[in-house]
Amino acid sequence: MSGAKGIIISGGPSSVYATDAPQFPKELFEGKIPILGLCYGHQLLAHVLKGRVEPGKEHEYGAASLKIVLQDTILKDIKDNAPVWMSHGDEVLEAPPGFQVLARTKTCRVAAMADVQRKFFGLQFHPEVTDTPCGTKIFINFLFDVCGCVKDWHVKGLIDDLKDKIRAEVGERHVLFFVSGGVDSTVAFTLCTNALSPRQVTGVFVDTGFMRKNEREEIERTFIHRGWKNMYYVPAADTFLEAVKNESDPETKRRIIGDCFLELQTRLENEIGLEPGKWILGQGTIYPDTIESGHSQEASVIKTHHNRVPAVQEMIERGLIIEPLKDFYKDEVREIGRQLKLPEHLVAKYPFPGPGLAVRCLCSRERFEIEPKPADLDRIAKKRGLRAWRVPLRTVGVQGDHRSYSNLVILTGQAGLEIYSEVARTMTRKVRNTNRVTFLITPIPPERLNGASVVSAFLDEKRLDLLREADAISHEMLLKEGLSEEVWQFPVVLLPLTLGKGETIALRPVESTDAMTARHANLPLSFIRRLGNALKKLEGVDMVLYDVTDKPPATIEWE
Ligand code: XMP
Repeated sequence: MSGAKGIIISGGPSSVYATDAPQFPKELFEGKIPILGLCYGHQLLAHVLKGRVEPGKEHEYGAASLKIVLQDTILKDIKDNAPVWMSHGDEVLEAPPGFQVLARTKTCRVAAMADVQRKFFGLQFHPEVTDTPCGTKIFINFLFDVCGCVKDWHVKGLIDDLKDKIRAEVGERHVLFFVSGGVDSTVAFTLCTNALSPRQVTGVFVDTGFMRKNEREEIERTFIHRGWKNMYYVPAADTFLEAVKNESDPETKRRIIGDCFLELQTRLENEIGLEPGKWILGQGTIYPDTIESGHSQEASVIKTHHNRVPAVQEMIERGLIIEPLKDFYKDEVREIGRQLKLPEHLVAKYPFPGPGLAVRCLCSRERFEIEPKPADLDRIAKKRGLRAWRVPLRTVGVQGDHRSYSNLVILTGQAGLEIYSEVARTMTRKVRNTNRVTFLITPIPPERLNGASVVSAFLDEKRLDLLREADAISHEMLLKEGLSEEVWQFPVVLLPLTLGKGETIALRPVESTDAMTARHANLPLSFIRRLGNALKKLEGVDMVLYDVTDKPPATIEWE
């Protein structure tokens, strides 16, 4: 710690009372260095310095409004009722002796606290996410006013630095890249090709069978147009589909797909003529992939990204992988892409997960009945003139920095998006095992849902084709109606929930900046209904749902 001007203790999934809670050296709290504790860090300060931390009566996820008690030091110039982003289960009930409460929220007594004398500060909310717009100002207050730091780092020259690093890391070896056509792998591949030479870098576009409609053609056009000759197309849909055909668990599907990519390497070694031991693998991994895969110290596994499966971890440890973008967020990667003069349509493309449609096509081993109007959910829905159905089909969420895998809720009845969204927020806070809430778009009598059930289904070509078609229709309509700019990403999901004939499509358009947090998109209801009707016409579609959950508590992708 010597030489540090200040310390920021971040959030994390632990509780300060857990036996495996992260440990800190005692001298940290002797008052020699300013500390800013965020979420878990805030609770840790309160715990160590003899305040009171307990499990909150309600878990709090998503937007909250900051009621300023004292606009001092780190809250200097922060306005009353500023929006902030929360994600916590435990809560500080009493600030430690010597601390003042600087702010509260409706459900949180100590949302910000300070011991100005010792320069200790704690925030229950997350100033580091873009959904806390005043967060940057709070960091500026802490870094410059409290810690006395000086700004002497600039983005200019970043590309040159990155290229130098790539050259030093790769040396004489060859680099093999799996390029999906998405932003991250394309930017990373371009960066490496520019830093080295097209002779030293090979790109491979693998058709996994989980790609979107026309993806291959679009990718080929882009690269041929750029005159790149170091790019190959590998059809491998049969291999990937065969490997996951009996799996329903999302993490298992992700692992298998990651392993399939690695097995392909061996095949390609021969086909492309790479000399064993003289090449390394290039990946477009970005920072959130690392955090959510649980490979930064103390982070919980939310999902294992395809480029973070155990076999890849092992290769990283052996120095066989280069990931030039691993410290950047998506918005920064886009900026690097622009500096590399990649076409805007490619740089601005919606993110698409490595395992592709495989994690947007939900599977189920068993058959389940749907639970009509369960009392705990229906009570909340009824207050807003709606009704609720619990679907025992689980999707992934992130609650208090932990992974959750919980039931889905469907709301029926007419309301504005803000009402659906408020009901979703209340349900995910108050009802256990609930992390995702949708509303029914298709105009069917709600009572028909009584007969709905989840059926056994796995990944197969027919289901993937249906999803591909629904995805293409959704994106075309969005573009045609000039609404593309309104969303940051638009996953379309297929779930084995049936009314007797077909399955269910769920729409998940979100707004975000860096994917660490997200809000469901507020598309016009008239558009949502028209899109729902268009999708309902597809053979094999019984219902269409719209997801109104933020991240947290639900992740962007359902699996
Ligand atoms: P979640 O669903 O965790 O997703 O909110 C955050 C962002 O990451 C994308 N995503 C992936 N990207 N490999 C990737 O390259 C993956 O395995 C993967 N899984 C999720 C997701 O689409 C969103 O933009």
